[in-house]
Amino acid sequence: MADLSAPCDLSGQTALVTGAAGGVGAEIAVCLERAGARVFATDLDSARLADVRTDRGAAWDIRALDVSNIEDVGSVVGSVCEEAGKIDILVNCAGIYRMQFLPEITEPEWDRLFAVNVKGAAFMTQAVAQSMTAAGRGGVIVNVASAAGRRATAGSIAYSASKAAVISLTQGCASELAASRIRVNAIAPGAVETEMWDQVQRDYAGRLPVDGPTVKEMQLSMTPMGRICTAEDCARAVLFLASDQSAFVTGQTLNVDGGLWMN
Ligand SMILES: NC(=O)c1ccc[n+]([C@@H]2O[C@H](COP(=O)([O-])OP(=O)(O)OC[C@H]3O[C@@H](n4cnc5c(N)ncnc54)[C@H](O)[C@@H]3O)[C@@H](O)[C@H]2O)c1
Repeated sequence: MADLSAPCDLSGQTALVTGAAGGVGAEIAVCLERAGARVFATDLDSARLADVRTDRGAAWDIRALDVSNIEDVGSVVGSVCEEAGKIDILVNCAGIYRMQFLPEITEPEWDRLFAVNVKGAAFMTQAVAQSMTAAGRGGVIVNVASAAGRRATAGSIAYSASKAAVISLTQGCASELAASRIRVNAIAPGAVETEMWDQVQRDYAGRLPVDGPTVKEMQLSMTPMGRICTAEDCARAVLFLASDQSAFVTGQTLNVDGGLWMN
């Protein structure tokens, strides 16, 4: 019988992480590696990814990957399967954010947000699930959604809609892939201290009354636990969802937001 008090052990498993040069993705890749997985870290910005690997003292195999490019997706998933023999864990973390109020949304920016945040996660899942199903060993997929996908706010209509789509994608894929013993879950972080959150604060700063609360103060006032999420908070939740500690959990989106949303 399994020792239920044992930590999340991923020894012998292969994990593929997208967006691993970013604040959240790098922490997830570090965490999965420390848990024993062989990590293939991927990002659009492969030069930055190599620097992050050095900074973090990680041993990741790295690959350049644009998740919005289906040919790229197929060739990277194929090359990882060839080199490692299998993929057990996929974390879809690559994502972009744009601040736009309704009148400012343009078709190219809408398409780009959905190409990276939604299409990227969907076709990565399709390619990896195909290899997991063929191998017959099951697997785990974790998507990085957002609290914005739970409830949209002014100025983030397209981003929020893309993250709501990621939550829906998680549920649909979980339903289809359960028969192949593939679990699909998501995390929905609140604001996380990364470059993306720095950009959000800069973007909103010019749009809020100067004598009113900042976007950070507003975020903190709505968060019962009274602090901003860290990349480590996200990585801990992903580790739980990637490990057997969550063996009977699928189709769920776990809020990692200090109580911001309680649904
Ligand atoms: N930072 C936040 O406040 C916050 C909150 C909730 C959810 N999220 C989500 O967390 C995830 C990671 O965000 P982060 O804060 O680490 O942002 P980040 O900007 O630090 O990292 C995002 C990474 O994705 C990569 N990327 C962008 N387009 C890509 C593409 N087409 N193909 C492959 N990689 C691509 C970037 O190069 C970057 O390294 C995103 O999905 C984001 O939407 C972030």
